[in-house]
Amino acid sequence: MVGSLNADLVVGVERRPVPGETVLGSDLATHPGGKGANQAVAAARLGGRAAIVGRVGDDGHGALLRDALAAEGVDLAHLAATPGVPTGVALITVGPDGDNSIIVSPGANARLGPADVEAARALIESAPVVSFQLEVPLPAVEAAAGVAARAGRRVVLNLSPSAPVPDGLLALCDPLVVNEHEAAFLLGGGGDPGRMAAALAGSGPRSVAVTVGADGVVVADGRGTAAIPSPRSDAVDTTGAGDAFTAALCLRLARGDSLRDAARYATRAGAAAVRSPGAQSSFPRPDELPAL
Ligand code: RIB
Ligand code: NA
Repeated sequence: MVGSLNADLVVGVERRPVPGETVLGSDLATHPGGKGANQAVAAARLGGRAAIVGRVGDDGHGALLRDALAAEGVDLAHLAATPGVPTGVALITVGPDGDNSIIVSPGANARLGPADVEAARALIESAPVVSFQLEVPLPAVEAAAGVAARAGRRVVLNLSPSAPVPDGLLALCDPLVVNEHEAAFLLGGGGDPGRMAAALAGSGPRSVAVTVGADGVVVADGRGTAAIPSPRSDAVDTTGAGDAFTAALCLRLARGDSLRDAARYATRAGAAAVRSPGAQSSFPRPDELPAL
């Protein structure tokens, strides 16, 4: 995983304030998070070997993240501390339906650059699957994706949060993982998830997965598109469900699954992750995966 690490500061609310308004929420919970860290933990907990290339600050939140990843056995040799810069923070509100709204303050994540990628070159070249999200600067993502692709490694990009990316990067993605909003952003308009997956697959990436929340995922590859359902689960907190999905997908692709088989497995990991509060704390062990 080449990506972000954030301290998630989470407050439950009955509804979100409008500008100029104050509402009262629940007690504050502080969890280890960030899309890169979440994916590393999710893959490790499912039995995979995971490593992270990233940056934290030399502060208490950085220590929280380091400890959380170490406890899961994630390789931290390329997790750098950045003096004088706060660790990334995500301000998260969770609503009554388990839905979340997130503001990320990137902090040290914004300092991840091509030099960090160069330092981690041997690691990136040796990983069967290298996974990215967009909470770290694009030059780091592009550099690392290039290193991975030139070494014949599989590049998985979760385009979250939405941002414009160069065609050259999209062309390396196998798959590009997006939710419906991110797909609509890339296509310049929304629509049926199957159509969006097909349109995206025809626009550059080697394959595409469009996640549709509780409805599962639509994958598109050289064989066409396939809608893959998710097991049902009652949502308590959806934070990190996309990260659990993508990590499980990476794990199974690394083990040689087809995209469709990997996606079938990954929807179970995503469904498990919505059943309890927080991101990493809700990620399943293999025996906790719901049946399809
Ligand atoms: O995908 C969930 C994650 O997004 C949270 O852990 C938060 O840190 C934000 O990065
Ligand atoms: Na959760």
